Parts: sequence; structure tokens; C-alpha cells
Amino acid sequence: MKIGIIGAGSIGLLAGAYLGEHHEVHMFVKKEEQRRTLAAEGIICEQLTEPVSVYAHLATQMSEGYDLWLVTIKQHAMDDFLEQDLPDDAPYLFLQNGMGHLEKLSQSGLKSCVGVVEHGALAKGPNEIDHRGKGNIQMAVYKKMEPMHGQALSMALHTAHFPVVFKEKYEPMLKSKLIINTVINPLTALFSQPNRSILTNPSINEMASLLCEEACSVLGLSFSIEWERVKEIAETTGENHSSMLKDITENRLTEVDSICGYILDHGKNPLPYHHFVVHAIHALEYERGVRKR
Ligand code: PAF
Repeated sequence: MKIGIIGAGSIGLLAGAYLGEHHEVHMFVKKEEQRRTLAAEGIICEQLTEPVSVYAHLATQMSEGYDLWLVTIKQHAMDDFLEQDLPDDAPYLFLQNGMGHLEKLSQSGLKSCVGVVEHGALAKGPNEIDHRGKGNIQMAVYKKMEPMHGQALSMALHTAHFPVVFKEKYEPMLKSKLIINTVINPLTALFSQPNRSILTNPSINEMASLLCEEACSVLGLSFSIEWERVKEIAETTGENHSSMLKDITENRLTEVDSICGYILDHGKNPLPYHHFVVHAIHALEYERGVRKR
């Protein structure tokens, strides 16, 4: 297959490295430095012509002839991305944390699957990824595609080193991943700890279980099942720094609004732990000059 990957952060690069073993992968990158280093490794790169207003010219560069578009950009870039006049011949697989993108996607006419990433991956430079925790990519059909087509796609992407699992329904898959992110991400970011701290630090562990309880009550999921999943992912990605911790360390806006903020927005009762972590992460973003108010 010819696969275009939009977003060359840690997940985009990880997927590019594994999928590139069996498919023709083109990475769409923002920065010239990254294009140069990846190209030196023999990776085909298309550089976005307008690095500042990120997606302004993307659609004109995304030509036809691809079999799949893998979109690994952050939630807060999705509005810009979906506003473009994107090619609609090939299917898209969207791999974002949180659930905010569903509403935006439902208004687009794209053939789309959504998926979740359970890998721990740390970008060590523009072309180097430390694969710190092996997990699955789970994917399900979202719109304008037959389940059979989504399943065939997942089988074409799947390898033993980079497992891709097809799910019949997207909602339980995304909700369960949302719980993982709403628990692990803010706490590891606030306390600058690797994911395993959810298990090893008793106070973080206590706060994690309270965040998990709040999120389960909002999403209508069973605490005992989801808490076990959170602990399992904290173990398998134990060495990893969560994406929120990486965003804070590298002075970027985090995805807290589409993860913990999503839970807050959908809760009917007060959610003191979510309330606190959203404001605490906003405070860090503000101090780093990436949040205005
Ligand atoms: O956002 C992240 O960092 C990842 O989704 C996960 C699974 C929590 C691993 O770090």
C-alpha cells in the first residue's frame, strides 16, 4: 500500500518506521530539519510548504494515488486540518487522544476509521524514536466505510511487531482510551514522572484511582474493569513519558482540553479531581507562554 502519514511526532514516526517495512510510506513533515534528517535515512518525505500556518497548503500536496492516510496530528490541530479541501478517494485512519475529533469528523465527507495507540514512544530527535512500550493500535470504522473494508485495512497494516487490532465499535474503544489518558497524562505531566509512577507512587496512585472513578461515572463505564486497564497500560508503557508530559517539557500546548476537559464538559455532577488537573495543566501552559488565558 502507499501510505501518507500526516504528523511526524513520536506516534507518526513510530508508525512510519514499522509500516515502512512492508509499505511505501510518505511522511508529511513540517520542519525542513526533520525532512532533511529523515530523507538522509532513505525515508520519503513531503515537506509542507508553509511551516507556520501548518495545514494551509497541505491539501494541495496530498495528491491522489494513496491507499491510506494515517493522521497522527494533535487534537487541537484537527480543526485546521479538516477545514482543508482534502482528497477523498482513499480512507483515513485518525489516531488522536480524546474524543473531541468525532464531532468535527462527523461533518466531513471523508471515509474514515478512528483508532487508539497503546504504544509508549519517545522521540529522541527529528528521526529517532525509542519504542519504550509495545502495545496495539486498535481501530474501528467511523464513517462512510463498510466494516469489512476497515477490517481488511487493519489486516494489511498488522505485523507481529506492530499489532493492529480491528474493533467492531469505535465508541467503547475510544472511551476506554480516554479513561487511560485522563488518568495517566495529567498526573505524569504535573509531577514530571514516567507512566509507571501511577503504580509505584502511592499518592499519585490514589489520585489516579479518583480520576478514574470520576471519568467512569461520566462515561458510564465500570470502574473495576477500566482501573485494571489503566494499571496495565501504566505497566506496559512504564518507562514512557506521556504525551502530556512531553508537551509540557517541550513548551507546547497540551491536549488537556480534549481529554480531561472532555470529561468535565460531559459530567453532570461536580468532578473536583478533573477540575483541579485541568486548571493545574492550564497554569503550567500559561507559565510556559503557550496559553494566553
Ligand atoms: O498519550 C500518551 O502518552 C499515550 O496515549 C499513553 C498510552 C498514555 C502512553 O504514554
